[in-house]
Amino acid sequence: MVEIKSAGELDAMREAGRVVGRALQEVVKHAAVGVRLVELDEVAATVIAEAGATPSFLHYQPAFAPTPYPKVICASVNDVIVHGIPDRSRLRDGDVVSIDCGAYLDGWAGDSAVTFTVGLPRPRDLELISATERALQAGIAAMTPGNRLGDIGHAIAQHAAEGGYGVPVDFGGHGIGRRMHEDPHVANHGRPGRGMVLRAGMTLAIEPMFVAGGNGDYRTARDGWALHSVDGTRAAHAEHSVAVTDDGPVILTLP
Ligand code: MF3
Ligand code: CO
Repeated sequence: MVEIKSAGELDAMREAGRVVGRALQEVVKHAAVGVRLVELDEVAATVIAEAGATPSFLHYQPAFAPTPYPKVICASVNDVIVHGIPDRSRLRDGDVVSIDCGAYLDGWAGDSAVTFTVGLPRPRDLELISATERALQAGIAAMTPGNRLGDIGHAIAQHAAEGGYGVPVDFGGHGIGRRMHEDPHVANHGRPGRGMVLRAGMTLAIEPMFVAGGNGDYRTARDGWALHSVDGTRAAHAEHSVAVTDDGPVILTLP
């Protein structure tokens, strides 16, 4: 079931999304060489708590996971594509860091992710990150009424193909609303003009994840959560929760 939100409900979702956007903004501000991943988790937890919101990842257990998720954010460093669990390890010079965060406010969910580097960046990493961000923007731009899900996935996959990046096939975006994960699944690949028709009031989390080595194969870490690239190359992930409206796509997870 795909729920159509009213203008008032979209306003409420934007407030939930704003909390997530602010949490990510604060995490990025605090991230630096030598900082521990668990410290970044605490930064996000504080922003969410002070806003009167609830973290949506904490204790969440999707079908693929062996245990409830133990933290507030996902912190995926270098060859970790998504779902890295923050631990006491410290960021190192040149690391590629993806932070994913979600929260509920007044019964509505927001979900967003960002990738950045700390210390001296490698030019190839900056290119990977910017391609992932451009793919996110292209996916968002495809979210107009009358377009279809396949248009979103196709727009994202085109950017991956242009850069020669790999795309893990089993993961992608999703509907979002009263719950973090709702129908439909939003694949990061697709055929233009195919799939569910987009209507004003639909809200989707768009989340391209690109692997530098050009291969989307991944392996799951022993913790059952973190997805590593099989070839060991670095990955980037970018995500916004977005509404389809008659005036065009509206990003709900801006600070
Ligand atoms: N944005 C990620 C996703 O939709 C959030 C994962 S939440 C977790 O897959 F709790 F499962 F980590
Ligand atoms: Co998501």
